[in-house]
Amino acid sequence: MTQNLTGKVAIVTGGGGSLGGAYALALARRGAKVVVNDLGSAPAGGGASRGPADQIVAEIQSLGGSAVANYDSVTEGARVMQCALDTYGRIDVVVNNAGILRDMSFHKMSTADFEDLYQVHLLGTFSLCNAAWPHLRGQGFGRIVNTGSAAGIYGNFGQANYSAMKLGIHGLTLSLAAEGRAKNIHVNTIAPAALSRLTLTVMSAEQLQAMRPDLVAPLVLWLCDPACTESGGLFEVGGGWIGKLRWERAAGHHFSPGAPLTPEDVAAQWQAITRFGPDSTHPASMAEAFGPFEKVMKGEIT
Ligand code: NAI
Repeated sequence: MTQNLTGKVAIVTGGGGSLGGAYALALARRGAKVVVNDLGSAPAGGGASRGPADQIVAEIQSLGGSAVANYDSVTEGARVMQCALDTYGRIDVVVNNAGILRDMSFHKMSTADFEDLYQVHLLGTFSLCNAAWPHLRGQGFGRIVNTGSAAGIYGNFGQANYSAMKLGIHGLTLSLAAEGRAKNIHVNTIAPAALSRLTLTVMSAEQLQAMRPDLVAPLVLWLCDPACTESGGLFEVGGGWIGKLRWERAAGHHFSPGAPLTPEDVAAQWQAITRFGPDSTHPASMAEAFGPFEKVMKGEIT
Protein backbone atom coordinates (compact mmCIF):
# COMPACT_ATOMS: atom_id res chain seq x y z
CA MET A 1 0.00 0.00 0.00
CA THR A 2 1.31 3.45 -0.89
CA GLN A 3 -0.74 6.14 0.75
CA ASN A 4 -2.05 8.90 -1.48
CA LEU A 5 -4.32 11.55 0.01
CA THR A 6 -4.57 13.71 -3.10
CA GLY A 7 -7.95 15.44 -3.22
CA LYS A 8 -8.50 15.15 0.53
CA VAL A 9 -8.78 18.20 2.76
CA ALA A 10 -7.56 17.99 6.35
CA ILE A 11 -7.77 20.30 9.35
CA VAL A 12 -5.05 19.94 11.97
CA THR A 13 -5.71 21.92 15.14
CA GLY A 14 -2.68 23.10 17.04
CA GLY A 15 -1.02 22.52 13.68
CA GLY A 16 1.73 25.01 14.43
CA GLY A 17 2.98 22.99 17.40
CA SER A 18 5.33 20.08 17.72
CA LEU A 19 3.02 17.13 16.96
CA GLY A 20 0.48 19.17 14.97
CA GLY A 21 3.22 20.50 12.71
CA ALA A 22 4.47 16.98 12.06
CA TYR A 23 0.93 15.82 11.18
CA ALA A 24 0.28 18.79 8.88
CA LEU A 25 3.56 18.28 7.02
CA ALA A 26 3.04 14.52 6.72
CA LEU A 27 -0.52 14.96 5.44
CA ALA A 28 0.66 17.52 2.88
CA ARG A 29 3.51 15.24 1.76
CA ARG A 30 0.88 12.62 0.93
CA GLY A 31 -1.08 15.10 -1.15
CA ALA A 32 -3.73 16.38 1.27
CA LYS A 33 -4.59 20.06 1.38
CA VAL A 34 -4.19 21.23 4.95
CA VAL A 35 -5.82 23.85 7.15
CA VAL A 36 -3.17 24.57 9.75
CA ASN A 37 -5.16 25.86 12.71
CA ASP A 38 -3.19 27.37 15.55
CA LEU A 39 -3.99 30.15 17.96
CA GLY A 40 -0.33 30.43 18.88
CA SER A 41 -0.97 30.34 22.60
CA ALA A 42 1.43 30.00 25.50
CA PRO A 43 1.90 26.40 26.77
CA ALA A 44 -0.50 27.10 29.64
CA GLY A 45 -2.97 28.94 27.40
CA GLY A 46 -3.34 32.70 26.96
CA GLY A 47 -1.65 34.88 24.37
CA ALA A 48 -1.85 34.53 20.62
CA SER A 49 0.57 34.53 17.71
CA ARG A 50 0.23 33.87 14.00
CA GLY A 51 3.84 32.67 13.86
CA PRO A 52 3.40 28.91 14.53
CA ALA A 53 0.66 28.34 11.92
CA ASP A 54 2.39 30.60 9.38
CA GLN A 55 5.67 28.72 9.75
CA ILE A 56 4.13 25.30 9.05
CA VAL A 57 2.15 26.67 6.13
CA ALA A 58 5.37 28.13 4.68
CA GLU A 59 7.14 24.77 5.12
CA ILE A 60 4.32 22.94 3.35
CA GLN A 61 4.30 25.45 0.52
CA SER A 62 8.07 25.21 0.14
CA LEU A 63 7.60 21.45 -0.40
CA GLY A 64 5.09 22.21 -3.14
CA GLY A 65 2.08 21.33 -0.99
CA SER A 66 -1.10 23.29 -0.34
CA ALA A 67 -1.94 24.73 3.07
CA VAL A 68 -3.75 27.65 4.65
CA ALA A 69 -3.29 29.12 8.11
CA ASN A 70 -6.20 29.60 10.49
CA TYR A 71 -5.73 31.40 13.78
CA ASP A 72 -9.10 30.81 15.48
CA SER A 73 -9.37 29.08 18.80
CA VAL A 74 -10.62 25.52 18.57
CA THR A 75 -13.49 26.60 20.80
CA GLU A 76 -14.78 28.26 17.59
CA GLY A 77 -15.04 25.03 15.63
CA ALA A 78 -17.51 26.47 13.12
CA ARG A 79 -15.02 29.20 12.15
CA VAL A 80 -12.18 26.72 11.69
CA MET A 81 -14.47 24.58 9.58
CA GLN A 82 -15.58 27.59 7.53
CA CYS A 83 -11.93 28.28 6.69
CA ALA A 84 -11.67 24.80 5.15
CA LEU A 85 -14.87 25.34 3.17
CA ASP A 86 -13.92 28.84 2.02
CA THR A 87 -10.43 27.76 0.93
CA TYR A 88 -10.92 24.22 -0.34
CA GLY A 89 -14.69 23.67 -0.50
CA ARG A 90 -14.77 20.44 1.50
CA ILE A 91 -13.50 18.54 4.55
CA ASP A 92 -12.39 14.91 4.81
CA VAL A 93 -10.04 14.65 7.76
CA VAL A 94 -10.02 16.32 11.18
CA VAL A 95 -7.09 15.94 13.55
CA ASN A 96 -8.01 17.44 16.92
CA ASN A 97 -4.62 18.07 18.47
CA ALA A 98 -4.56 21.55 20.03
CA GLY A 99 -3.69 21.47 23.68
CA ILE A 100 -2.45 23.32 26.72
CA LEU A 101 -1.23 22.22 30.14
CA ARG A 102 -1.86 23.72 33.56
CA ASP A 103 -0.20 21.17 35.85
CA MET A 104 -0.53 21.56 39.61
CA SER A 105 -1.49 19.37 42.51
CA PHE A 106 -5.22 19.12 43.03
CA HIS A 107 -5.30 21.02 46.31
CA LYS A 108 -4.00 24.08 44.45
CA MET A 109 -6.30 23.72 41.41
CA SER A 110 -8.96 26.38 40.86
CA THR A 111 -12.16 26.13 38.86
CA ALA A 112 -10.49 28.35 36.23
CA ASP A 113 -7.62 25.87 35.86
CA PHE A 114 -10.18 23.15 35.16
CA GLU A 115 -12.43 25.28 32.97
CA ASP A 116 -9.58 26.56 30.75
CA LEU A 117 -8.45 23.00 30.06
CA TYR A 118 -12.05 22.02 29.36
CA GLN A 119 -12.38 24.82 26.80
CA VAL A 120 -9.33 23.90 24.72
CA HIS A 121 -9.34 20.11 24.98
CA LEU A 122 -12.85 18.77 25.41
CA LEU A 123 -15.03 21.63 24.17
CA GLY A 124 -12.52 22.37 21.37
CA THR A 125 -12.62 18.76 20.18
CA PHE A 126 -16.41 18.69 20.40
CA SER A 127 -16.76 22.03 18.66
CA LEU A 128 -14.82 21.10 15.52
CA CYS A 129 -16.29 17.58 15.34
CA ASN A 130 -19.72 19.12 15.63
CA ALA A 131 -19.05 21.61 12.83
CA ALA A 132 -17.50 19.02 10.50
CA TRP A 133 -20.01 16.22 11.21
CA PRO A 134 -22.83 17.25 8.82
CA HIS A 135 -20.34 17.54 5.95
CA LEU A 136 -18.75 14.17 6.70
CA ARG A 137 -22.17 12.53 7.01
CA GLY A 138 -23.39 14.15 3.82
CA GLN A 139 -20.50 12.83 1.74
CA GLY A 140 -20.37 9.41 3.42
CA PHE A 141 -16.71 9.72 4.31
CA GLY A 142 -14.74 11.14 7.21
CA ARG A 143 -11.72 10.41 9.35
CA ILE A 144 -11.29 12.02 12.78
CA VAL A 145 -8.29 11.55 15.03
CA ASN A 146 -8.67 12.91 18.56
CA THR A 147 -5.86 13.39 21.02
CA GLY A 148 -5.90 11.80 24.43
CA SER A 149 -2.99 11.18 26.75
CA ALA A 150 -1.48 8.55 28.99
CA ALA A 151 -2.39 10.96 31.80
CA GLY A 152 -6.04 10.45 30.89
CA ILE A 153 -5.75 6.67 30.62
CA TYR A 154 -3.77 6.10 33.79
CA GLY A 155 -4.14 9.33 35.79
CA ASN A 156 -1.14 11.38 36.84
CA PHE A 157 -0.09 13.38 39.82
CA GLY A 158 -0.59 17.09 39.14
CA GLN A 159 -2.76 16.59 36.06
CA ALA A 160 -6.32 16.19 37.35
CA ASN A 161 -7.69 18.82 34.97
CA TYR A 162 -5.77 17.48 31.96
CA SER A 163 -6.56 13.80 32.73
CA ALA A 164 -10.28 14.51 33.01
CA MET A 165 -10.38 16.19 29.59
CA LYS A 166 -8.18 13.62 27.89
CA LEU A 167 -10.27 10.63 28.93
CA GLY A 168 -13.41 12.67 28.23
CA ILE A 169 -12.14 13.08 24.69
CA HIS A 170 -11.94 9.31 24.31
CA GLY A 171 -15.55 9.01 25.52
CA LEU A 172 -16.48 11.42 22.74
CA THR A 173 -14.49 9.30 20.27
CA LEU A 174 -16.31 6.13 21.28
CA SER A 175 -19.79 7.57 20.80
CA LEU A 176 -18.89 9.33 17.56
CA ALA A 177 -17.39 6.07 16.27
CA ALA A 178 -20.71 4.34 17.02
CA GLU A 179 -22.73 7.09 15.33
CA GLY A 180 -20.38 7.50 12.38
CA ARG A 181 -19.87 3.87 11.43
CA ALA A 182 -22.83 3.62 9.04
CA LYS A 183 -21.67 6.78 7.24
CA ASN A 184 -18.04 5.67 6.83
CA ILE A 185 -16.90 8.19 9.44
CA HIS A 186 -14.15 6.64 11.54
CA VAL A 187 -13.07 8.21 14.80
CA ASN A 188 -10.06 7.17 16.88
CA THR A 189 -8.01 8.48 19.79
CA ILE A 190 -4.25 8.55 20.07
CA ALA A 191 -2.26 9.05 23.25
CA PRO A 192 1.05 10.32 21.92
CA ALA A 193 4.46 10.71 23.51
CA ALA A 194 6.89 13.09 21.83
CA LEU A 195 9.30 15.91 22.37
CA SER A 196 7.49 19.25 22.63
CA ARG A 197 7.42 22.34 24.80
CA LEU A 198 4.73 20.55 26.84
CA THR A 199 6.80 17.45 27.61
CA LEU A 200 9.95 19.52 28.32
CA THR A 201 8.27 20.43 31.60
CA VAL A 202 8.38 16.78 32.76
CA MET A 203 11.45 15.34 30.95
CA SER A 204 14.77 16.68 29.70
CA ALA A 205 15.56 17.29 26.02
CA GLU A 206 18.22 14.51 26.25
CA GLN A 207 15.64 12.00 27.50
CA LEU A 208 13.23 13.03 24.78
CA GLN A 209 15.77 13.09 21.95
CA ALA A 210 14.51 9.92 20.26
CA MET A 211 10.85 10.83 20.75
CA ARG A 212 10.50 12.66 17.46
CA PRO A 213 7.01 13.94 16.59
CA ASP A 214 7.37 12.55 13.07
CA LEU A 215 7.37 9.07 14.62
CA VAL A 216 3.75 9.70 15.73
CA ALA A 217 2.50 11.13 12.43
CA PRO A 218 2.42 7.83 10.44
CA LEU A 219 -0.22 6.37 12.79
CA VAL A 220 -2.33 9.49 12.39
CA LEU A 221 -2.01 9.27 8.62
CA TRP A 222 -2.97 5.61 8.52
CA LEU A 223 -6.04 6.26 10.71
CA CYS A 224 -7.03 8.95 8.19
CA ASP A 225 -6.69 6.65 5.18
CA PRO A 226 -9.83 5.68 3.25
CA ALA A 227 -8.67 2.04 3.44
CA CYS A 228 -8.34 2.03 7.23
CA THR A 229 -11.41 0.42 8.85
CA GLU A 230 -10.36 1.05 12.45
CA SER A 231 -12.86 3.10 14.49
CA GLY A 232 -13.31 3.70 18.20
CA GLY A 233 -9.73 2.65 18.85
CA LEU A 234 -7.34 4.01 21.45
CA PHE A 235 -3.63 3.86 20.64
CA GLU A 236 -0.52 4.73 22.59
CA VAL A 237 2.22 5.89 20.26
CA GLY A 238 5.71 7.34 20.57
CA GLY A 239 9.35 6.85 19.66
CA GLY A 240 8.40 4.40 16.91
CA TRP A 241 6.27 2.15 19.16
CA ILE A 242 2.49 1.82 18.58
CA GLY A 243 0.05 -0.28 20.58
CA LYS A 244 -3.73 -0.50 20.89
CA LEU A 245 -5.57 -0.48 24.23
CA ARG A 246 -8.90 -2.03 25.22
CA TRP A 247 -11.06 -2.46 28.28
CA GLU A 248 -10.80 -5.62 30.32
CA ARG A 249 -13.65 -6.68 32.59
CA ALA A 250 -13.41 -9.31 35.29
CA ALA A 251 -15.85 -12.22 35.04
CA GLY A 252 -17.34 -10.73 38.19
CA HIS A 253 -19.90 -12.29 40.48
CA HIS A 254 -23.69 -12.57 40.20
CA PHE A 255 -25.52 -12.21 43.49
CA SER A 256 -29.10 -13.35 43.60
CA PRO A 257 -31.23 -10.40 42.41
CA GLY A 258 -34.11 -11.56 44.59
CA ALA A 259 -32.17 -11.58 47.86
CA PRO A 260 -30.97 -8.63 49.95
CA LEU A 261 -27.43 -7.58 49.08
CA THR A 262 -25.17 -6.24 51.82
CA PRO A 263 -21.72 -4.58 51.83
CA GLU A 264 -20.50 -7.73 53.63
CA ASP A 265 -21.67 -9.86 50.67
CA VAL A 266 -19.72 -7.58 48.31
CA ALA A 267 -16.61 -7.83 50.49
CA ALA A 268 -16.90 -11.62 50.59
CA GLN A 269 -16.83 -11.81 46.79
CA TRP A 270 -14.20 -9.11 46.30
CA GLN A 271 -11.72 -11.52 44.73
CA ALA A 272 -14.17 -12.66 42.05
CA ILE A 273 -15.28 -9.08 41.41
CA THR A 274 -11.74 -7.79 40.90
CA ARG A 275 -9.84 -10.78 39.48
CA PHE A 276 -8.63 -10.58 35.90
CA GLY A 277 -7.90 -13.93 34.30
CA PRO A 278 -8.71 -16.21 31.39
CA ASP A 279 -12.43 -15.71 32.08
CA SER A 280 -12.16 -11.90 31.74
CA THR A 281 -13.93 -10.30 28.79
CA HIS A 282 -13.17 -7.27 26.62
CA PRO A 283 -16.49 -5.61 25.86
CA ALA A 284 -16.23 -3.19 22.95
CA SER A 285 -19.80 -1.86 22.83
CA MET A 286 -22.77 -1.21 25.10
CA ALA A 287 -24.43 -4.30 23.65
CA GLU A 288 -21.46 -6.49 24.58
CA ALA A 289 -21.14 -4.85 27.99
CA PHE A 290 -24.80 -5.46 28.78
CA GLY A 291 -24.43 -9.27 28.93
CA PRO A 292 -24.49 -9.75 32.73
CA PHE A 293 -27.55 -7.52 33.14
CA GLU A 294 -29.34 -9.26 30.30
CA LYS A 295 -28.97 -12.57 32.14
CA VAL A 296 -30.64 -11.04 35.19
CA MET A 297 -33.46 -9.50 33.16
CA LYS A 298 -34.10 -12.79 31.36
CA GLY A 299 -34.43 -14.49 34.73
CA GLU A 300 -31.36 -16.66 34.14
CA ILE A 301 -29.91 -15.60 37.51
CA THR A 302 -32.08 -16.46 40.46
P1 NAI B 1 2.56 21.95 21.51
O1 NAI B 1 2.45 22.95 22.61
O2 NAI B 1 3.82 21.90 20.72
O3 NAI B 1 1.34 22.13 20.49
C1 NAI B 1 0.06 22.48 20.88
C2 NAI B 1 -0.42 23.59 19.96
O4 NAI B 1 -1.79 23.88 20.24
C3 NAI B 1 0.34 24.89 20.15
O5 NAI B 1 0.94 25.31 18.93
C4 NAI B 1 -0.73 25.90 20.60
O6 NAI B 1 -0.53 27.21 20.12
C5 NAI B 1 -1.99 25.26 20.06
N1 NAI B 1 -3.20 25.71 20.78
C6 NAI B 1 -3.36 25.83 22.12
N2 NAI B 1 -4.59 26.27 22.41
C7 NAI B 1 -5.24 26.41 21.22
C8 NAI B 1 -6.55 26.82 20.85
N3 NAI B 1 -7.45 27.17 21.79
N4 NAI B 1 -6.88 26.83 19.55
C9 NAI B 1 -5.99 26.49 18.59
N5 NAI B 1 -4.72 26.10 18.90
C10 NAI B 1 -4.35 26.06 20.18
O7 NAI B 1 2.27 20.54 22.20
P2 NAI B 1 2.29 19.03 21.62
O8 NAI B 1 3.11 18.23 22.55
O9 NAI B 1 2.59 18.99 20.19
O10 NAI B 1 0.77 18.62 21.90
C11 NAI B 1 -0.17 18.25 20.92
C12 NAI B 1 -1.28 17.46 21.57
O11 NAI B 1 -0.78 16.21 22.04
C13 NAI B 1 -1.94 18.12 22.78
O12 NAI B 1 -3.32 17.86 22.76
C14 NAI B 1 -1.29 17.43 23.95
O13 NAI B 1 -2.08 17.47 25.10
C15 NAI B 1 -1.14 16.03 23.40
N6 NAI B 1 -0.15 15.21 24.06
C16 NAI B 1 1.17 15.43 23.84
C17 NAI B 1 2.10 14.61 24.46
C18 NAI B 1 3.53 14.71 24.16
O14 NAI B 1 4.28 13.82 24.59
N7 NAI B 1 3.99 15.73 23.45
C19 NAI B 1 1.69 13.60 25.46
C20 NAI B 1 0.29 13.41 25.55
C21 NAI B 1 -0.59 14.22 24.88
